Amino acid sequence: MTNVQWDTKIIDGLLVENGRIVKGTIYIKNGEIAAIAQEDTLGEAKEVIDAKGLHVLPGLIDTHVHSRDPGPTYKEDFYYSSQAAAAGGITTILEMPNTTPPVSDVESFDNQVANLSGKAHVDFGLWGICVGDLNKKDIAPLHERGVIGFKFFWGYAVHAKTFQLMYNYKPGMEDVIPPFDDGEVYSMMKEVSKTGNLFAVHAENNHLIQAFTREVEARQGTSYDDLIQSRPELVEVTTVQSGIAMAKDLGTRLHILHVSSAGGVDAVKEAQEAGYPITVETCPHYLFLSDKDYDHVGPQMKVYPPVKYEKDQKRLWERVKDGTISHVCSDHAPHTEEEKDGELWSIPAGMCGVESLAPLLLTAVHDNRLLITDIARLLAEEPAKLHGIYPQKGSLQVGTDADFTLVDLQKSGTLKREELHSKSKVTAYDGFPLHGVPVRTIVRGKTVMKDGAIEGEAGYGQLVTPASSRKEAALS
Ligand code: DOR
Ligand code: ZN
Repeated sequence: MTNVQWDTKIIDGLLVENGRIVKGTIYIKNGEIAAIAQEDTLGEAKEVIDAKGLHVLPGLIDTHVHSRDPGPTYKEDFYYSSQAAAAGGITTILEMPNTTPPVSDVESFDNQVANLSGKAHVDFGLWGICVGDLNKKDIAPLHERGVIGFKFFWGYAVHAKTFQLMYNYKPGMEDVIPPFDDGEVYSMMKEVSKTGNLFAVHAENNHLIQAFTREVEARQGTSYDDLIQSRPELVEVTTVQSGIAMAKDLGTRLHILHVSSAGGVDAVKEAQEAGYPITVETCPHYLFLSDKDYDHVGPQMKVYPPVKYEKDQKRLWERVKDGTISHVCSDHAPHTEEEKDGELWSIPAGMCGVESLAPLLLTAVHDNRLLITDIARLLAEEPAKLHGIYPQKGSLQVGTDADFTLVDLQKSGTLKREELHSKSKVTAYDGFPLHGVPVRTIVRGKTVMKDGAIEGEAGYGQLVTPASSRKEAALS
């Protein structure tokens, strides 16, 4: 096998996969991993990437990104968010469906693929939305078309025309589809269950939110703690428990999105121990922030579900480590500086995150809270398996996409909001010290970020679907 002309080889890296770290060289041909060897003995390549001293991870995946495109693109669009992803070491974005129009049927799926393809710096998969009777008939066709999961915004009202989320909903508002009731949720879940795809929920109970909000308003509460009190742990726990009860009944693959509380994650742990296929994710803001941070971060920290207390933060770290939480994702949800710069109760929820996801978790490796093998597990292997795109994505196996994130664990830096690549710069981590940085992002053999600079072009990124992954696995 000597003198083979590979397109690229990545030599002398520390390859991280499946809980192991081994020194090796990766050979790339036609955008795929063509061979892996311990020493660089398999011949020459047109491009040689020296990874000495670097960790080579399977390309990292952010499963939870709201790029607002199409829709309120003044906040963000895919041209920007996919650059932010590349800059932050992310090779695949799974894009949320609450766009205008939403990804609710085959036509909007196809339009979204065309829309994002022209702007994509990294690869992407698409979530489909569940909006009750409005698209029940479209669930099976959307599944066939290749959505990586179905999202249901449990507890949210949406605007009747734009389908944008109503962040501060009150019953009686006009032009609004109110939150779905349990009967409607059950029948949506039933429809998704038939496909075998994932039914993923935002888990906050609207009736409790309304009751607690009235209490807070009665005492004229305006503090951050009042915001938590309007959406406390119980709001998450009751929805998680209802979801689990329905999923048990229907045999659904239920996924709890962005869990924020000790009670919420422990309800999932209990269901997992009983043998049910319930999964759960969390986000950096629930791991790195607590109510104590509000004084210095301010309203930019408002997200739904809200960041809660240190006891929740502590439990979530435990559940990341013990594997209850399958993966960590950003919930990248940009709004403009002006929109976030208002009164805590009326501003929208959400902040940027796709670019800071990997650097923050790598900093947890430096701080001995995680191992580098956990990063591959939490940001590549488990997300890809959950969404049916493994091993095409999320692995270092021969015959799969040559997606890699090269990491320098020795490199330190500071997160600076003005350096973020998103259109919006709303972050809770301005000035946050980072130890361990993605220094190169490679998508299907092509470098799209090197030392923080974007190298790729808009339009390079491609759609990934569970079916495309099955095809690759069969060919390999
Ligand atoms: O804070 C949030 N922002 N939570 C959500 O559930 C939605 C998101 C958004 O799209 O703005
Ligand atoms: Zn979200």
